[in-house]
Amino acid sequence: MNRRQFLKNSVALAGAAAAASLAAPAGEDIRTGIIGTGNRGGHLWRSLVNLDGVKMVAACDLKADRLDKALSVASRDNPTGYSDYRKLLERKDIDAVFIATPCDLHVEMAIAALQAGKHVYCEKPRGITPESIARLLKVARSSKTVLQVGQQMRYGPQLRETIAKIHEGVAGKIIMVKAQRHAGNDLDHDGPSADWFFDAKRSGDVIVEMAVHNLDVCNWAINCRPERAAGFGGVGMWVNEPPGRTSMDGYTLSYEYVNGVKMSFTQVFFHPRGLPGNGQYFYVYGTKGAVDVSGARFYPMGRGEPQVLSTAQRLGGEPQLQAFYDCIRNGAKPVANVNIAAVAALTVACRQGHAQQ
Ligand SMILES: NC(=O)c1ccc[n+]([C@@H]2O[C@H](COP(=O)([O-])OP(=O)(O)OC[C@H]3O[C@@H](n4cnc5c(N)ncnc54)[C@H](O)[C@@H]3O)[C@@H](O)[C@H]2O)c1
Repeated sequence: MNRRQFLKNSVALAGAAAAASLAAPAGEDIRTGIIGTGNRGGHLWRSLVNLDGVKMVAACDLKADRLDKALSVASRDNPTGYSDYRKLLERKDIDAVFIATPCDLHVEMAIAALQAGKHVYCEKPRGITPESIARLLKVARSSKTVLQVGQQMRYGPQLRETIAKIHEGVAGKIIMVKAQRHAGNDLDHDGPSADWFFDAKRSGDVIVEMAVHNLDVCNWAINCRPERAAGFGGVGMWVNEPPGRTSMDGYTLSYEYVNGVKMSFTQVFFHPRGLPGNGQYFYVYGTKGAVDVSGARFYPMGRGEPQVLSTAQRLGGEPQLQAFYDCIRNGAKPVANVNIAAVAALTVACRQGHAQQ
């Protein structure tokens, strides 16, 4: 990786993102629109119907069938449909905008929405190149509206309790983290997202599009940011499937954090379901023992019994959505703020090849 560029960008994060300060008037509905009503956008949009004080007034998508579906989900509020997101952003009566388009469009759309004075909930990743991440940070820094990023794992009750215990020192001083995201199959080659997902220039590759969640949890647990990284990956199983594919189907990475913690991460799409060790996990090794973060358990060194660190729900619905509206109403800075999301995006996106694109 290009370490100098990584450090330069990380330093730029330090002063970033002023706290949001444009609180919405109490008691008024927050008039909301959405750009991108596909798989993720459709899910977020359906969840918003259940929130009090939210009026769903506009939706935008290039695909008519997806747009129609979104408009019917929110028929209670009689939303207007758009195919050009700039037309949606021109509306002065829209307070908040969700962005759930392919990854390469996030920065351009989030900047346009912030500059139009909207509160913004933008899906992860924060950007797919160090240059675009820095560009959005600059705009977010001078913006008075809320910018929350779709790193919803930061809101999961069980993860929050477990990682708080790690920070309190349950495992002693953290030495090493081992994490993975292993699947038994590839994503659907003919599915609705196949038009961008397998194109690394659009998705940022699977490490950016998917593993940004996992590597953000590692950053959070380690309570630091990586300083150096090295890795290898490619396409081993799904060669040219779908045709023209440029995204990897497997890679392995090593990181060294500023505080000295070492981390190893792998993601594969060819882990047979019958082979033990499928799925996602995060093991945090410390001087007193190790924490299985997904299992919320601490395993002491020696023969001691495992200790349950949290009995809360792992993700607990969509608490990040209510939190977004709470920030709009009380002017607070989101948990999944632009700084956290930028460090996560730089953790995954700062590869020399991508930095030069
Ligand atoms: N936070 C999470 O857990 C999570 C989960 C899944 C996806 N995502 C993220 O959400 C984003 C969307 O992923 P998806 O799975 O919903 O993909 P998708 O392909 O199902 O949906 C994207 C939608 O954006 C629309 N679109 C593309 N260009 C547009 C434009 N210029 N104007 C308006 N609409 C446009 C497409 O027509 C499509 O309907 C990605 O960034 C992905 O990483 C986040």
